[in-house]
Amino acid sequence: MSVTADPEIKHQVRQFYDQVGWQPIGDCCYQNARYEDLRTVSQEYIHRCHMRVKRHLEPNGRYLLDAGSGPIQYPEYLEYSRGYQYRVCADISYVALQEARARIGDQGLYVVADVANLPFKAETFEGVVALHTIQHLPQSEFLQGYKELYRVLAPTKTAVVVNRWQSSILMRVFSPFMFLATYLLYVYRKITGRHTFLKVGIPPERRNVAVPPTSTFIHRHNAAWLESEVGALMLIEILVWRSVSTRFLRTLIHRRIGGRWFLRVIFWLEERAPHFFGTYGQYPLVVIRKP
Ligand SMILES: C[S@@+](CC[C@H](N)C(=O)[O-])C[C@H]1O[C@@H](n2cnc3c(N)ncnc32)[C@H](O)[C@@H]1O
Repeated sequence: MSVTADPEIKHQVRQFYDQVGWQPIGDCCYQNARYEDLRTVSQEYIHRCHMRVKRHLEPNGRYLLDAGSGPIQYPEYLEYSRGYQYRVCADISYVALQEARARIGDQGLYVVADVANLPFKAETFEGVVALHTIQHLPQSEFLQGYKELYRVLAPTKTAVVVNRWQSSILMRVFSPFMFLATYLLYVYRKITGRHTFLKVGIPPERRNVAVPPTSTFIHRHNAAWLESEVGALMLIEILVWRSVSTRFLRTLIHRRIGGRWFLRVIFWLEERAPHFFGTYGQYPLVVIRKP
C-alpha cells in the first residue's frame, strides 16, 4: 500500500465525520444534512436527482461498492444496491460504517478504507458509486481516487461519481438573484420575526438541536481537469446529477411562489441537455465505463 500524500488531512476528515458529520441532529438526520435543502418544496426534485445515479448502474450483481458510503443517509441510496447480493460500504469513518450497518445489516460488508488506496482485488465490483467522497482527497490524490474506482470495477460495468464542481457558470449567473433573495429574506425575517429556512434548510420543528457550523477539508476540481486528467486514462461521460446548488434552492425556491413547478421545469431542462447542465451546473454525475 502506498503512503498517503498528506495523512493529516485524512485524519482531520475522519475525525470530523466521526465526531460531527455523522452525529444525529434531532431525530431526522445527520449534521451532514445541513448542506442539503430538506424542505418539502424541494423534495421531489432532489429525489429525482438521486434516482439518476441508479440509471447508470448495473441493476443486479454480487457486489456493489459504495466508496465513502457514509451512513447511507438518504432512502434513495438504498435503491442503488437493491438488486445486489452485497453492498460493500468503504469509508474512513468508523461511525459512518456503524450507522450504515444499522441501516442495511447483513446486506452490507463494512470496510474501513481509503478511497485512494482500496483494499480490494481488481475487477471485483459489478457496480461502483462514490458520492461526494473524492472531494475529500488531497489534490495530489484525486487522480489516484479515480484510478482506484476504475481498478476495482469489473469489465463492461460502470461506476458513478458525484461531486460538486469548484465553480459553476450557471450558478454564477444566478448569483445576483440569490444575493438579492438572501437580503429580502433577511429583511422579511427581521420585520416579521419569523424564521426562514435559510440557515440550515431543516424545518424548525425538526431542528431541535443546535447545529455546529463546522466542516472539514474539501478540494474541488473542474470539468477541464476531469476531462484532461481522468478522461486520458478511462472512458468518462459528464452528465447532470443536479444543476442547482443548495443555496439556489434555499434562496430562490419557495412553495408560495411556485417553487415546485420551477423545479419541475429545471429537471425537464436537465433531462433534455444532461451534458450541458452537467458541465456548467453545480453537480456533475460522472459515468465511468470499463470496456
Ligand atoms: C460528504 S460525505 C458523503 C457520504 C455519502 N456518500 C453521501 O453521499 O451521503 C463523505 C464521506 O466520505 C468519507 N471519506 C472522506 N474521505 C475518504 C477517503 N479518503 N476514503 C474513504 N472515505 C472517505 C467520509 O468519511 C464521509 O463518510
